[in-house]
This record gives sequence, structure tokens and C-alpha cells, in this order.
Amino acid sequence: MVASNRGPLSFALDESGKPVPAGSAGGLAAALHPLLEDSGATWVACAMSDADRMATAEGLMTERGLRLVTVQPDPTTYRMAYDVVSNATLWFVHHHLFDLARRPRLDHRWAVAWDAYRDLNASFAAAVADAAGEGATVLVQDYHLSLLPRMLAEKRPDLRAVHFTHTPFADPSFLRVLPKAVARELLEGMTGGHAAGFHTRGWEQGFLACCADQGVEAPRTFVSPLAPDPDYLAERAASPRCVAAGRRIEEMLGGRRMVLRVDRVDPAKNLLRGFWAFDELLRARPEFRGEVVLMAMAYLSREGLPEYLAYGAEVEHAAQRVNDVWGTEDWDPVVLDVADDPDRSFAALTRYDVLLVNPLRDGLNLVAKEGPLVNTADGVLALSREAGSFAELRDQALEVNPFDVAGTAAVLGEALDMPADARAQRAAALRALVSERQPGDWLADNLGAVVDG
Ligand code: G6P
Repeated sequence: MVASNRGPLSFALDESGKPVPAGSAGGLAAALHPLLEDSGATWVACAMSDADRMATAEGLMTERGLRLVTVQPDPTTYRMAYDVVSNATLWFVHHHLFDLARRPRLDHRWAVAWDAYRDLNASFAAAVADAAGEGATVLVQDYHLSLLPRMLAEKRPDLRAVHFTHTPFADPSFLRVLPKAVARELLEGMTGGHAAGFHTRGWEQGFLACCADQGVEAPRTFVSPLAPDPDYLAERAASPRCVAAGRRIEEMLGGRRMVLRVDRVDPAKNLLRGFWAFDELLRARPEFRGEVVLMAMAYLSREGLPEYLAYGAEVEHAAQRVNDVWGTEDWDPVVLDVADDPDRSFAALTRYDVLLVNPLRDGLNLVAKEGPLVNTADGVLALSREAGSFAELRDQALEVNPFDVAGTAAVLGEALDMPADARAQRAAALRALVSERQPGDWLADNLGAVVDG
């Protein structure tokens, strides 16, 4: 069984108020979906919106090759657990994102939200306990469900739970921002299962250091970076919709070179410094003016959070500013695409010259692995040293310090300057590096963490 906040299907309401399948789901659900299809797994996930709730009521939450179980918390509980605790607090703790002079504000309202988070985890525990066969293994995903492993151990001692964290894990000083009882409850929740997994050694060390700092006994831990499915990606790249989207991108580029980024609009993704670096590049290297386009496929997420709305506005402004300063009648230096068109993003991945992945801190970042697998233009990967995938790809990527705007501009220049044979060599070596792991390895590591324990 798998339990995650976001499931494989999500819905939005169309103009007539009917639920229709929605766009991008973000790294986790999209990566697990092909992996679990036809595996006989049961996937327990949340109805996140009114559209999801309507779709569930109308029997649309079903997927070939999977048994889907939908948890349906009441909307207020869900908003407090997802917005206030999971995204505005835990995401910020694990990504070291707080502007500590102002946030977090751990007041009475926050305490109510923490109760809601506990209730949401309890709803998952009830749903899993209800659907799980005797002795089943339950793979619990991410920071939304930190309390679930211990709740399951108490409710159904026959089950074996593995918690996997797809984000970074906080350093002890950041976890100490939370009220002591909360930090302990969080760790005790995660440590209640058989094992806890992470994408890199660094995040695993963070977790172990937090356990030691809070006096909580750590369970068995393991490191297992997720990998994209090359067959699934190849199939998508060849689909008529992707091919058509690719043609439209070629037309738009008109022979210019493309620096690409594909992210959710999230402060951790560091979109602002990406635009500032591109501005710096155009300032320093006049020969690129009119010759290069920065395509930013940036799709909105977590719009219930003021932090995300404000960040989205800043992102638009920063992109517009580059165009105001450098744009000409027939050249928009930056194309900011918030349309959330997965086919278009995917088509862009097949033909970038440079892929910029510059998060401030990121659990893994699958785009950094998907890009090199599907790209057919010998594109160069400029990768943040703070992304989990840097541990695996560092030898063939150009290293980006995500905080250093001038340094990032220099890396973009270096990538664009690279001669064709060096690009081809690097791209082939990068593909080989990415292909060293298959998605099935991640699943096997998770299941193995239980069997051997
Ligand atoms: C990250 C998290 C996932 C999450 C995804 C998208 O990858 O690790 O758990 O699902 O972002 O975020 P969202 O809040 O839209 O589900």
C-alpha cells in the first residue's frame, strides 16, 4: 500500500462546474504513478479540493491498474493541515526557508492547525487500517504524513510502515524553531514505523541529527534516490501532442537557443535568481542579446498560501523586468509560461540547449534527471549543488551556487559557450549516469527496508 497526500488523479472544475482531470501533479505523484500501475497496489490519497470531492462522489477517482482509496477530510481541517502546517510550516522548516524575523507565527491559531494536521494523519490511519490486508507493507510518503507510521503501529501492529521523505530534512537548529512538543511528536510519528528513507545521505544525516538533538530513538534509515522511468518518458516524448507542442516551440524560438527551466512556482525553486542571472548574462555578454531565450515553464501551486501568491507576483515582475530592459520588437528574452501544459513542458525538455535547475534546497529534483533522458539537443545541465540529485549528477552537470547570481550567469555563459563535441560527450555521460538507477530500484529499496529489518 502507498499513502500520500496527493494521489495520481486530481481534478479541477470546468466552466459548467463539472470535475475534469487537472494538470501537473508535481514530482512525487507523477513519479510514483507509472511505478505502481499494474502492481496490485492500493494507493490511499486525499481529496484535496471541491473538484476532487465531486469526482470521488461521481465515481471518477478510479484508475486502471490501481486500487484508489480516497480520504475525505472536511475542507477546513484539510486547509489547516495542508496550508498552515504542511506547506507554510513543515515545507519551510525542511527547506530552511523562513524569514525568521517574521515567520513562523506559532500562535493559538497555529496550535489549532497542528490539531488538524494530527486529525488528517488519523484519517489516513483509519483508511489504511481499513483497507490493508494482514501484514501489509505501507509506504508512507512525505512530510504531510509524518505522524502516520506511529499511528499505524498503534492501530495495526501487524502492518509494516516505511516513511519516505521526498524533501530535504531540516538541520536540528531549524527543527528547533517548532515548539518542543511538536518537534518531538513529529519525529516520534516518523520513527514509529520500521524504517525511514531519504533521497540523499545529507537529508538522512539531518534526520538522524534531529533525532539525537530531540532525544528520540531513530529507526532504521536508508538512502534511495528516485529515478524516472525511461520507457514512460520515451513514450510521452513520441506522443503526437508532445511532437506538436515541440513544433510550436521551434517556431516561437525561430532558430534561437533555449535556456529552459521547469518548476512549480515555489520560493524553494529560486526562480527570481534565475531571472536575475539571465539579466546579468545579457548585461555581461552582448553577443547573446537577441540570440537566446529563457523559457520558464512555471506552474502555480499552493495558491492558498499568501507566501506563494506574493512570490508568484515577484516572479512575474522579475521576468517582465528582463523583457523591459532587453527585449526588442522581435525578441522576448524571457518567456514565462504559467499555463501548466505538461505536454508543452515536456516538449521543451526534449530540445533545450541549457537546463537551469537552481533550487535553494531540494529533496531530489526529478526534472534534473528527466531532462537529460529525453533531450535530443545535447543540452547542458546547470544544476544547483543544493538539489538532492546533485549528489548523483555532479560529475556531468555544471555546478550552480543557487545564491550567487553573478556565478549563475557565468555558468549559463559557460554552458552556452561549450563546443559541440564537449556538449555531446557530456550529454551522453549524463544520460548514462541517470540511467544507472531505475524507478524499480527505489521501490525495491523501500520494500527491502522492511524485509531485512
Ligand atoms: C514536492 C513534495 C510532494 C508534493 C509536490 C507538489 O515534490 O515532495 O509531496 O506533492 O511537491 O506539491 P503539492 O503541494 O502541489 O502536492
